[in-house]
Amino acid sequence: MPDYTQVDPYRLLEDDLCNVYDDIRQELVKNTNQPELNTIASYYFDGQGKALRPMVAILMARAINYHIYRENSLLSSQRQVAMISEMIHSASLIHDDVIDQSDCRRGKPSVNMLWNHKKVTMAGDFILAVASMMIARIRNDDVTLILSQVVTDLVQGEFMQLGSKETENERFAHYLTKTYRKTASLIANSVKAVTLLAGADERTTELSFQYGRALGLAFQLVDDLLDFVSSSAAMGKPTAADLKLGLATAPVLFACEKYPELNPMIMRRFQEPGDVEKAFELVHKSRGLEQTRFLARKHCLEAARLASELADSPYQKGLVIVSDLVLNRIK
Ligand code: FPP
Ligand code: MG
Repeated sequence: MPDYTQVDPYRLLEDDLCNVYDDIRQELVKNTNQPELNTIASYYFDGQGKALRPMVAILMARAINYHIYRENSLLSSQRQVAMISEMIHSASLIHDDVIDQSDCRRGKPSVNMLWNHKKVTMAGDFILAVASMMIARIRNDDVTLILSQVVTDLVQGEFMQLGSKETENERFAHYLTKTYRKTASLIANSVKAVTLLAGADERTTELSFQYGRALGLAFQLVDDLLDFVSSSAAMGKPTAADLKLGLATAPVLFACEKYPELNPMIMRRFQEPGDVEKAFELVHKSRGLEQTRFLARKHCLEAARLASELADSPYQKGLVIVSDLVLNRIK
């Protein structure tokens, strides 16, 4: 096996990533004369996030440019997609924090704790609107369609999570579709967009999409796992939160096989006193956490396999490393 441990994707892309948040804030301020709207909309663009989406988009762009042209380059439209991807993500998080009534994110009070819901919701819409203008400026119909699809997926994914009461045998399929829409679609379609912008053929574009899909699914599976095993301090956001929100994620769904008494609790969305504590205990007693990690690993290996089909370059190696970072992340 070649030694990939030398490649740190964040260091590799230091120059590309260092101004991403500044540039996003510039775009926002340029489009409003309402200082408070700008303050709220800019709140999460403080450079404290993992910047996973722009990082993966730029890595893919550079890996593909090298794969096709043997060039060490990044198109400005590809960098725009990286920014747009982070903007769509943040817009969705702002709405999500209102819906979940979260109290902290990224180690600071969540946006809904500082401003009222009406203003916060509009700030999310504003980010999305500015991102839409940036999409239009790319002037590529396929990219416009792909990134619009992402927004419909995000909304549908979030909707599927609200009060759904699917039956036992459709539950896992429902969870996976929801996970694709809520998390994987943005990553998959962002890398697909940068690949199209490079002028790639259909096969390479599909490879890129599948890489992003696998990585995104793994990312959310690990997120759902960390909700059970990590601390709020490490995550910078509330943990053990999903059950309280009524959500049955992969660890619970797997745990159900050994402890069928979880079924009625899932159906009533852990609403009765003691449900959350009991379900938490049963998940830890079952093999649900292990099985969730196993599934995440399967998707990460698939992502790594797809990345290894691209021409050898530091960026292509970076894509392989990212699949490892996603699986082994602790926050
Ligand atoms: C975080 O989920 C939320 C998402 C990944 C997507 C949320 C999508 C919407 C609210 C639809 C509206 C979208 C737009 C673009 C305006 P989580 O609650 O599981 O994660 P968390 O623990 O980080 O809050
Ligand atoms: Mg949330």
